[in-house]
Amino acid sequence: MREWSQKLRADGRSIGCVPTMGALHEGHLSLIRASARECDETIVTIFINPIQFGPNEDLTTYPRDEGSDLELAMGAGATAAYCPSVETMYQSDSSVYVVEEKLSKYLCGLSRPTHFRGVLTVVLKLFNATVPDRAYFGLKDYQQMLLMNRMVRDLDIPVEIIALPVIREPDGLAMSSRNRHLTKEQRKDAICLKNALDAATEAFQNGERTPRELEWIARTIIEQAGSARIDYISCCDAEDLSTLAKIDRPALLALAVYFRDTRLIDNTVLSPEKEGQ
Ligand code: PAJ
Repeated sequence: MREWSQKLRADGRSIGCVPTMGALHEGHLSLIRASARECDETIVTIFINPIQFGPNEDLTTYPRDEGSDLELAMGAGATAAYCPSVETMYQSDSSVYVVEEKLSKYLCGLSRPTHFRGVLTVVLKLFNATVPDRAYFGLKDYQQMLLMNRMVRDLDIPVEIIALPVIREPDGLAMSSRNRHLTKEQRKDAICLKNALDAATEAFQNGERTPRELEWIARTIIEQAGSARIDYISCCDAEDLSTLAKIDRPALLALAVYFRDTRLIDNTVLSPEKEGQ
């Protein structure tokens, strides 16, 4: 992979990388299309990364669909797909990881303590394999995007991180490979995530500036969905994820909710400047 990439770069071609775990949907495809527009070559990586799953998480049931993934990726403008095996990526006695010590302690890091270590480690390895100029990430995984920026900054990795908006189903549910695990009833209930974010956003637009109040508004809506079990709802500083007493700078409203074993996340950014207040 690296030889191929380096040769393209030596020929003056720019390279975009889109890291994914496969089961591609419009969210992934929006990243691939953006890369294909902005870079000469686009490499999609498809790798279900075992080290970012906790012991009781959904590694074994994570959706896999390599055949249709390749077609979708190429259709969206990818020039290559890199689909390494677990054995290619990890030596049986691997012992070096990328650990971030601040941003990864919040939000998803609380219920998934080794998750971001796995994500950062694999992404750095994928960068080393694909040697991209730019890498594309979705804001659906807002915390992951912040961590990517922090990793390239703190480790002097010469890759530009591009963050792109959340792509949603027509009814507002954020697209996710995990959505296909939802039963009919859970799928109906899952719209509460977007409804909760919308209700809190509306309150914010009407002048509410207390994070706890906005969290409460979101919580009330999610608690009405029968199959939903809240992991967290947090309104925090959008830059460093720390606690906010009052929204006087951009805030992130992020949530994670279980529908039985399926854990979904969503978020929105609330910017006081944009409201002109
Ligand atoms: P995965 O969940 O497959 O997501 C790959 C990329 O697609 C991520 O940048 C994610 O934010 C983006 N994405 C997913 N759903 C999206 C949506 N509805 N709208 C916009 N973008 C969306 O995130 C991972 O894989 C892994 O952690 C990875 C970075 C590949 C490391 O293993």
